[in-house]
Amino acid sequence: MPTLGQPLPHDSAIEHVRGEAAYIDDLPPLRGELIVDFVGSPIALGNISSIDTLAARAMPGIVLILTAADVPENSTGPVFHDEEVLASKVVQYVGQPVVAVAGETRAAVNAAMKLVRIQIEPLLPVLTIEEALAKKQFIGPTRKIARGDAGLALQSSEYRLTGEFAIGGQEHFYLESQATIAVPGESGAVVIHSSTQHPTEVQSLIGRALKIPYAQVVCICKRMGGGFGGKETQAAQPAILAALVASKTRRPARIVLGHEQDFASTGKRHPYLSRYEVGFTKDGKITALKSEFYSNGGFSADLSLAVMERTLLHGDNAYHIPDVELTGTVCRTNLPSNTAFRGFGGPQGVAAMENVIEEIAAFLKIDSLAVRRLNLYGQAKHNITPYGQVIHHNPLPAILDRLAATCEYAQHYHAVTAFNIKSKTHWKGLALTPVKFGISFTRRTLNQGNALVNVYLDGTVQVSTGGTEMGQGLNIKIRQLVADRLGIAADSVRVMATSTEKNNNTSPTAASTGTDINGAAAVRAADAIRDRLAVVAARHFVLDGLEATPECVDFADGWAFDHRDPSRRIAFVKLVQDAYEKRVDLGARGFFATPGVDFNRETGRGTPFKYFTCGAAFAVVKVDRFTGELAVECVDLLMDLGKMINPAIDRGQVIGGFVQGMGWVTTEALIYNAKGHLLSDSATTYKIPSVTDVPAAFRLDWFDGTDDPNAVCGGKAVGEPPLLLAIAVWAAAKNAIANAAPGRRPTLDLPATGEEMLRRLTAGTTPAEPPEKHLQGATSARPPIGSVPSTAVV
Ligand code: MTE
Ligand code: HPA
Ligand code: MOS
Repeated sequence: MPTLGQPLPHDSAIEHVRGEAAYIDDLPPLRGELIVDFVGSPIALGNISSIDTLAARAMPGIVLILTAADVPENSTGPVFHDEEVLASKVVQYVGQPVVAVAGETRAAVNAAMKLVRIQIEPLLPVLTIEEALAKKQFIGPTRKIARGDAGLALQSSEYRLTGEFAIGGQEHFYLESQATIAVPGESGAVVIHSSTQHPTEVQSLIGRALKIPYAQVVCICKRMGGGFGGKETQAAQPAILAALVASKTRRPARIVLGHEQDFASTGKRHPYLSRYEVGFTKDGKITALKSEFYSNGGFSADLSLAVMERTLLHGDNAYHIPDVELTGTVCRTNLPSNTAFRGFGGPQGVAAMENVIEEIAAFLKIDSLAVRRLNLYGQAKHNITPYGQVIHHNPLPAILDRLAATCEYAQHYHAVTAFNIKSKTHWKGLALTPVKFGISFTRRTLNQGNALVNVYLDGTVQVSTGGTEMGQGLNIKIRQLVADRLGIAADSVRVMATSTEKNNNTSPTAASTGTDINGAAAVRAADAIRDRLAVVAARHFVLDGLEATPECVDFADGWAFDHRDPSRRIAFVKLVQDAYEKRVDLGARGFFATPGVDFNRETGRGTPFKYFTCGAAFAVVKVDRFTGELAVECVDLLMDLGKMINPAIDRGQVIGGFVQGMGWVTTEALIYNAKGHLLSDSATTYKIPSVTDVPAAFRLDWFDGTDDPNAVCGGKAVGEPPLLLAIAVWAAAKNAIANAAPGRRPTLDLPATGEEMLRRLTAGTTPAEPPEKHLQGATSARPPIGSVPSTAVV
């Protein structure tokens, strides 16, 4: 039976259920191990005037206390070295590590941390995008992707609307917080066990901070209890602290951030502000779009510029816009540095576009699906993105049409209309939105990976790649791919812990490319061994006195056989043993570099993506008129994942990604006080979706219309795209606002929390304005992003 396409369970499914899958803090203490923690800045911005650690040092059980001066190279950061391992002169966000404490026990460390005295002269922090704009505090240059002349086209457009749209951030809420164990080795070497999506970067940033050669550092990641982008760069900082302690004390060192400490002091999805101007015809055909994006980057660059780039590359979502100008500026604020989060800026770009679609539909009083269908990228024409990439094998028109039919859009539409006429307590809304997510790292270099395959004499196989397992099912997919090439069962293949010792210079497991890149590299390594085995097997297959050629040899079901006469065959394990006797190499390395991708960020043009993963979502929501509470009544998803390697894993990814996205667009609100302290820093104040928030009417189906030759392993990348499907829920909420007061502008920010919904439903005084009026300025008043919402609206 072929292993590809089988719904095999997750690599660690049994261990997950039994609680046997070990995460970093499950690893038993090593002899002499020290606990490491850090004292973070109590304020968002200030000059450090003094640090007093004397009392803390004197505490029993305290072994080492570190400040900036103790770090061999204190400057750090994933792209630019614009961060510090420990703050030296200034603190730039609440929770920023200033003093590291290492001790024999957790209790000793906790007690000592309380005695550390940090004196800081406070300065006025900049927390919101608006404040940063006023102060012109930016990170990097403003970036632009444009086609045609949007300004000119807007002037000649039949209708125009301008507006502002604020998009909230999101906490990763991985169940395993940032964690590392560092073990000192011989001659200054150090072995790092880290919960990281990017072992190579942890290795190199530790090498840099400790001023030791990269070859002295090994970083291992067995698995993560979730990453979601939050461990693409931000696992490194605590890992460096543990490595420093290990190297200075010659003792193992463990750092595991507390959940609320992690929540408050690490970066999140970027909040955005978009200012747009759209031109369209009376039918809803978009003629021109100008969109300015501003993101809240936090105190340092981290990945913010790449995230913004992906926003611009998704600011069209799935729509052909003849004249378009998208610009993006990252704002510097005194918050933890915002970072990668599932979708990597794409969701913000798509949400902004879908907001525009809903605005047009409400203004023209037509159904938003008609507007979407009218503007959708086509197959033979209208299939070129603003950055010049041609969309090949575009399944979107067929996906939209099929989902509209199977979800019974028309019936729902009439039911919602009828409900809204009758109901005195609730408003309903609905939406069907497409998603087209670009697959590849937008930085070309990162689209490479290597793999190591070892075949053992009992016919079993070990595979190692640079890819990391964070729950997404990478390991089982790689097992299936390698098993398929060698014609053996997936059970015979094991994926080993990721280690920089086996796979060097790896890219983060990110951009949904984990399987595409590492799977392809593993397939190449397996094929190298398969080719050698075919030579050995061919000698066994003599037909009419003539040996077979290696090309005649196939591998399936645990056998190597002559495909001209399958009765001539040799068991895989026998063949392996024979090859060993004949001194044939049974190990191989494979390398893969995604072909055909290139993007010039200066000109904003190129082919950044190998292909697009596409899908669509339908949602119906119901809003309580008196509380603003939003309930998702019904969801119907349709995705094109090509020839799936593992439909069970993909199903989990789609549902999980959608629900995570639903949290972002509905209930997850990051609330800071005026001093930059995160108030919503735990599960009691920050509401992620629970099982009861997932509608009982939840359907998911696969669209198998396309056979996209660009998909790297046959199946299309699944990790991030389904998160963007949840934007249908937000669009449905906006539709409910529009239904509540036809003719009024249905302004709605994201997330559509109960407060936000109620504010929009009750602030119903904004009159229907002619669109030209909006050209003058902003829409209705909105509290600045990141401020405490006023309760006065109720
Ligand atoms: N699924 C689980 N269970 N846990 C995770 O942390 N991360 C997501 C997605 N799915 C994540 C997940 C993100 S942000 C990405 S980029 C991809 O998985 C990364 O893995 P892949 O490239 O192998 O799909
Ligand atoms: N996606 C996700 N992570 C990344 C990317 C990207 O395009 N570029 C760098 N890290
Ligand atoms: Mo995912 S945000 O690319 O780690």
